[in-house]
Amino acid sequence: MMNLSPQIVMNNLLYSELADIYTAIAEDRDFKKECQYIIELYHEKAHHTQCLRSLELFAGPAYHSACLASEGLESYAFDSSSAMKSIAKSRYGFTDEHYILGYLPEDLRQFDPSKKFHIMLIMRYSLGLLNYEQVEQLLFKAAELIAPGGIIVIELHKIPLLINHFEKLDIKTREIVLDNGSKVNCRWPAGKIIWEEESWQVKMPIKIDVMENNKSISYDTTSIETIFTASDLRRIIRTNPLLSLFVPDTEQIFTQSKLLVLRGQNDF
Ligand SMILES: C[S@@+](CC[C@H](N)C(=O)[O-])C[C@H]1O[C@@H](n2cnc3c(N)ncnc32)[C@H](O)[C@@H]1O
Repeated sequence: MMNLSPQIVMNNLLYSELADIYTAIAEDRDFKKECQYIIELYHEKAHHTQCLRSLELFAGPAYHSACLASEGLESYAFDSSSAMKSIAKSRYGFTDEHYILGYLPEDLRQFDPSKKFHIMLIMRYSLGLLNYEQVEQLLFKAAELIAPGGIIVIELHKIPLLINHFEKLDIKTREIVLDNGSKVNCRWPAGKIIWEEESWQVKMPIKIDVMENNKSISYDTTSIETIFTASDLRRIIRTNPLLSLFVPDTEQIFTQSKLLVLRGQNDF
């Protein structure tokens, strides 16, 4: 079976027509705590004293970029969805210079390699929106953009949670009320995960019910993801002398995911 392209992945309505619903349901985290932890991780091995620069890939509403900006970083967000960009602009005041639209991995070429980033983020399972070859390309290019001692933080699925169709995932069903009063129930996955036969690519059905003025509208959409583990990434970067990988213990902060960190070589 063929691997699907990111354009098809974009059919997840939560990243386009329903981006406002994604923004509301995915705000279930303590972004300040997560970002402060990430800044500390950077400082464990690197001590750059001037303004740190961050780049969040697959940024969506750019919660983390907004939070890093409030911690004093010069932060940039990158995503393919214009709906997500509009939300980030109106919520957090991002400018076109700081929220860049494009497709990964290819459009990472837009960045000037002489302007390095100290922190790069790929949060909430987003790496899996690319296939193996695309992730290889992405990390190859990202390694050129990372400052010495800088970190690429990647939030992956926790493998044991995948068992039994995410039976134990706390964020599987989310119920929220939007600013306009509509009640939203989102189930992700909404049923059995469909596993591909030749790779770790999965299809997750998503069901969203919106109740507004006693009228109910249901949306069915799909998230197509590749499951990556720490050892997959270790293999992918094995020929890349610019990066090393470590897995910090983040059980207390990232309860629903596994955090991996790639550090740029030539530490200070
Ligand atoms: C799961 S959301 C993550 C949003 C955010 N980082 C968070 O923590 O909630 C994934 C985002 O990746 C974007 N995306 C999907 N495929 C992409 C691609 N090939 N290039 C750039 N962005 C992509 C979607 O538009 C969506 O906003």
